[in-house]
Amino acid sequence: MDLLTLIKERRSVRQFLKEPIPHEDLEEILEAAQWAPSGGNKQGWKFIVIKNPDLLDEMSKMVGDKIDKLAEEAGLGNKLKGNKVMATFFNQAPVTIAVFMERYISKIEEALEGLGYQPLEIQRLRGQSDLQSIGAAIQNILLMAHSKGYGSCWLCSPNIASPEIEKLLGVAENWQLKALVPIGKPARDYKAPVRKDLTEIVEYRD
Ligand SMILES: Cc1cc2nc3c(=O)[nH]c(=O)nc-3n(C[C@H](O)[C@H](O)[C@H](O)COP(=O)(O)O)c2cc1C
Repeated sequence: MDLLTLIKERRSVRQFLKEPIPHEDLEEILEAAQWAPSGGNKQGWKFIVIKNPDLLDEMSKMVGDKIDKLAEEAGLGNKLKGNKVMATFFNQAPVTIAVFMERYISKIEEALEGLGYQPLEIQRLRGQSDLQSIGAAIQNILLMAHSKGYGSCWLCSPNIASPEIEKLLGVAENWQLKALVPIGKPARDYKAPVRKDLTEIVEYRD
């Protein structure tokens, strides 16, 4: 399959068969992440591969509870029900990869901070290259998984329980949870959500 077809045919998969993923396939998927580009080649990422169903259930419950608490505190009633489903289904997959980012403050960021720049302004001027690098690694995971016949989904909404999940998984303080990626054989087909037309998103300056 050519690369563009592979990219276009990858879908976010949210229902999985229980079939386990052979270790060799997982290693190849992780190798794809390992070879993603990263700002300054820092490779400030870490991947925890979780297969233990009890652990996945516990993480999913932590996320669900946090969303329920938020809904209650903000007086939102049932309004976050859909968000909860989209944030908690990862425990149905045979494997979920938790993706962590190492907090890294470059010399330029230190200098900007020293000059009194606010965190949001620093983010804007620096482009969050550590976070962008994580995104490249995750996309490689999704594409590699798809190329091997697996479905996966990039999940950021579970980050609402990132402090609790980081503690549960015992990661050091300088590592932050940025995404969960459940992977498994898809239990059904998915229709491609529409994309904006190229003319809407691209401008040329010839
Ligand atoms: C940064 C990011 C965060 C996402 N977070 C979630 C999420 O928390 N829950 C979810 O079900 N899907 C999540 N998705 C998947 C998107 O909903 C999905 O990519 C989009 O609807 C396009 O569908 P496709 O991936 O099938 O092309 C996320 C995708 C990205 C890139």
